[in-house]
Amino acid sequence: MSDLKPLFDNNRRWVAERLLDDPDYFKRLSELQAPKYLWIGCSDSRVPANQIIGLRPGEVFVHRNIANLVVHTDMNALSVIQYAVEYLKIEHIIVCGHYGCGGVKAAYENKELGLLDNWLRNIKDVYHAYNEELDAIPDPKAKMNRLCELNVVEQVSNVCHTTFVQNAWTKGQQLSVHGIIYDIHNGLLQDLSIRVKDAAQIENIYQMMPKKKTA
Ligand code: CO
Repeated sequence: MSDLKPLFDNNRRWVAERLLDDPDYFKRLSELQAPKYLWIGCSDSRVPANQIIGLRPGEVFVHRNIANLVVHTDMNALSVIQYAVEYLKIEHIIVCGHYGCGGVKAAYENKELGLLDNWLRNIKDVYHAYNEELDAIPDPKAKMNRLCELNVVEQVSNVCHTTFVQNAWTKGQQLSVHGIIYDIHNGLLQDLSIRVKDAAQIENIYQMMPKKKTA
């Protein structure tokens, strides 16, 4: 406990500040969670979702992992997406990458890291998919920045390929998937101008036909 004392102190101060603004703050928050956004971002401690986009508790549903990946065998990320789409009925899924991502950098290198290698392998696959474009960039920093962006592009696609997202579109649910990137050097978000709003925007091979109802 003593090791965590500063954190508990911070917490008590935070609660007091919230209650000063609004005595019903926690009562209201405990009764309803109705976020409009699902944030899929990197675990990097410098990329805290709520602070960056100025949203309060209750306003954004968050999933973070190393290098903001959406892997189609990852039950954790998939469960988050299903819950957010089907139950919370969020309207926007935001995949947010960031420049200077340690996960992306590690994936670019050839050092063996252990279990992590299996996770980072997904980013190596992104590199492989775009190797012509990336190999043509001479400046290592620019190359890495572009890999961070392309990783977002691919993760947006992975989100769109899930059955949950496609079923939502089929049902006419309003749902957009966005790709953005954060610059840890200046704190600014950049829109990568990726916005997917229906299944027609995804490659045919990944499109799912709605299940036929059996009598
Ligand atoms: Co990162």
